[in-house]
Amino acid sequence: MDKNAEIYQDLDRILVTRDEIQDKVRELGRRIGEDYRGKTPVMICILKGACVFFSDLIREIPLQLTTDFMAISSYGSATKTTGVVRILKDLDKDILGKDVIIVEDIVDTGITLNYLMQILIQRGAASLKIAALLDKTARRKVPDLKVDYCCFDIPDAFVVGYGLDYDQKYRNLPDIGVLSERVYSN
Ligand code: IMP
Ligand code: MG
Repeated sequence: MDKNAEIYQDLDRILVTRDEIQDKVRELGRRIGEDYRGKTPVMICILKGACVFFSDLIREIPLQLTTDFMAISSYGSATKTTGVVRILKDLDKDILGKDVIIVEDIVDTGITLNYLMQILIQRGAASLKIAALLDKTARRKVPDLKVDYCCFDIPDAFVVGYGLDYDQKYRNLPDIGVLSERVYSN
């Protein structure tokens, strides 16, 4: 998509370009490939935000792996977390004894992932790691949460694109940008 497209006018600025994303995702795929050599990890995509990242990432991992999908909700359509987490769609397959990698779009307060980790640990995964595209470390409310793999540390701003949404929109932007406040202030 061209950066002159109308949808780009709702951004204050581009924070991470598609080229920067591609480089980091490739690097992460290689790292996971090395760390999980000889294993068959289960890659779990957290819908919907992680779907674009997930589909790029798995294609950079040179291993046998399986995929599964889970949808949780903690946000509604606002830009502030509620702390309420619901499972909207559960995994299709059992993860007992599996090496699981949770693929998430962004770790903000960490409440969503922390909740999810508890659930998956209870289900008896052999190992459990987190791969996040973005991390807003400054806003963390769960200090113990360990993000094992992260592509970009970003400042405290509301971002959209490359799967991330505001009110279900902007997921189709190839780059990641800071959404203009005027879009969500009225
Ligand atoms: P947490 O529970 O506060 O860590 O919230 C994580 C979830 O909030 C992510 O999976 C996103 O769906 C959403 N989120 C947090 N920050 C942003 C943002 O800047 N843009 C879009 N979604 C966000
Ligand atoms: Mg999400």
